Amino acid sequence: MISSLPRAVPAPPGKPVRPEAPRGQERARRLALNPGTWTVEEAAGMRADFDQAAANWSEDRGGYRPPVLADALARGGPFRGSRAVEIASGTGLLTPLIRAVWPEVVAVDLSLRMLSRSAQPGRIQADASRLPLADGCADAVVLGDGPLFAAEVARVLADGGPLIVSNALGDGAPFRVPAEELVEAMATATSRPWDALQSEAHWGIWTILRPA
Ligand SMILES: C[S@@+](CC[C@H](N)C(=O)[O-])C[C@H]1O[C@@H](n2cnc3c(N)ncnc32)[C@H](O)[C@@H]1O
Repeated sequence: MISSLPRAVPAPPGKPVRPEAPRGQERARRLALNPGTWTVEEAAGMRADFDQAAANWSEDRGGYRPPVLADALARGGPFRGSRAVEIASGTGLLTPLIRAVWPEVVAVDLSLRMLSRSAQPGRIQADASRLPLADGCADAVVLGDGPLFAAEVARVLADGGPLIVSNALGDGAPFRVPAEELVEAMATATSRPWDALQSEAHWGIWTILRPA
């Protein structure tokens, strides 16, 4: 079941448009529903793109990304446990918000240059399609505008733990995957049904998925 909360954080004028969003969304949906199509070459291209974007990332995009996840964490609970895995952590714009809920955050990203711009402890350079983490080690997984590799999320999540997905530009975000497809991907990976709760906030959309 997918349910929605009414918006609590208004959207100010001036939302940016990312011309690359349609192509990015096509890829994000493909990876969520068909992760076997991810190749070494595609990973290398993704890493190179974000290595190049790293220098200006926080300066250009730091203002609008946190409010979306902040709203998810404020209204999407209850949350339990002490350790979260943040996938696609980038320059760490979202990590302090996650740490305020789960004191231990393991922040994973493909791009060393993005990671090296973060001052947060507990950073690991890795591909989300093959996480170097133990089964069931995470009380929650947070994915802020990154690719969903559902089988790996399911493997590292402790039983019943939530997957929290934040897309800072909502339907215009390059990594946006609709809630229906997020639910489908998690259900396929775990052979059990998942529920989702979603809301719009600022310029974005958040979705919190839990086993039904
Ligand atoms: C749009 S940025 C988001 C960064 C951060 N979450 C934020 O909100 O500022 C996407 C991030 O996903 C990372 N990424 C892309 N593919 C990945 C993969 N397969 N595994 C891990 N990280 C990946 C990129 O390197 C990049 O840092």
